[in-house]
Amino acid sequence: MINYHTKFLQPISIERLPFNNIRTSVLNRIWKAGDQKVSGKLHNKVIIITGASSGIGKALALEVASQGAKVVLASRNIFRLSLVEKEISKLGGTFMSVIADVTNKSDCKNIIDQTIERFGKVDILINNAGISMRALFNELDISVFEKVLDTNFLGAVYCTKYALPYILKQKGSLVAISSISGLSPLPARSAYVASKYAMNGFFQTIRLENKANDLHVLIVHPGFTSSNIRTVALDKHGEPQEISPRNEDKMMSASRLAKVIVKATIKRKTKLILTSQGKLLVWMYKFIPAITDKLIYRAMEKEPDTPF
Ligand SMILES: NC(=O)c1ccc[n+]([C@@H]2O[C@H](COP(=O)([O-])OP(=O)(O)OC[C@H]3O[C@@H](n4cnc5c(N)ncnc54)[C@H](OP(=O)(O)O)[C@@H]3O)[C@@H](O)[C@H]2O)c1
Repeated sequence: MINYHTKFLQPISIERLPFNNIRTSVLNRIWKAGDQKVSGKLHNKVIIITGASSGIGKALALEVASQGAKVVLASRNIFRLSLVEKEISKLGGTFMSVIADVTNKSDCKNIIDQTIERFGKVDILINNAGISMRALFNELDISVFEKVLDTNFLGAVYCTKYALPYILKQKGSLVAISSISGLSPLPARSAYVASKYAMNGFFQTIRLENKANDLHVLIVHPGFTSSNIRTVALDKHGEPQEISPRNEDKMMSASRLAKVIVKATIKRKTKLILTSQGKLLVWMYKFIPAITDKLIYRAMEKEPDTPF
């Protein structure tokens, strides 16, 4: 039986915060959790994670910090970033937070500038920040389409643009958190699917352009993973839908996914497809697309409050 998921904290827009006037100083906040006590495979690696305040990004931040990385946390929500900081502090990790809306080019540049100023290099950029939507394209306000593309695709492009020169110096890694929806269609998620297909084409091309430069590019295609994404997903008017239409308890956990992504990054793998259900779907869509289309449609039609 499908359970409605409990309501999560909604994202707080920086513009709506009462202390918006301190945004500039907050953008430069740096916390250091004492001397680095953690050693591991990522010792001294400088890793930027966008969308580090929740779900998969938060889990990735904790995982890399526990393996000795210096982690740069980026997102729009100060409060939730501070909760992640506390958890990294407990691990004895080294971190810095930069408040950024990835749809804003100068915020993306600021993430990289602050990282260089504080840590002097960038080894790995994990382009994870993302939002979803649920509505039929025919009924969708076009601004919702633009917001999803601006966040998921252009946000990753901007961060990559400013970080790439530094990552190339380190012969480091670019990680793109795409989705199974970047490899197969999903009705009522047109903007989300388009943004994830766009990420694939972009990052595959960046990989090829830098073949001679030892740039490592990993594209990750997670399946359903328990997080906040479906709760804050936008409806046809651009409002958060507030309730997950799926049973989050039955999904892969964000911390399990983070461990697999970090392992694949260390091994410099180029592609990661997750959950066995996700792998099966991608295989079926490749070899029996017409049947798979029908199965996907039927499954999505059964979601509570389906827009079909
Ligand atoms: N969960 C899944 O089932 C699933 C499956 C496949 C792929 N993915 C992908 O995994 C990534 C992480 O999603 P999640 O599931 O962990 O969702 P989540 O819990 O909702 O986390 C999304 C993160 O993105 C940040 N974010 C959203 N808009 C942003 C913006 N404009 N600027 C900066 N940060 C922004 C949010 O932070 P603030 O609100 O603080 O800004 C939050 O930290 C996304 O790219 C998503 O598409 C998820």
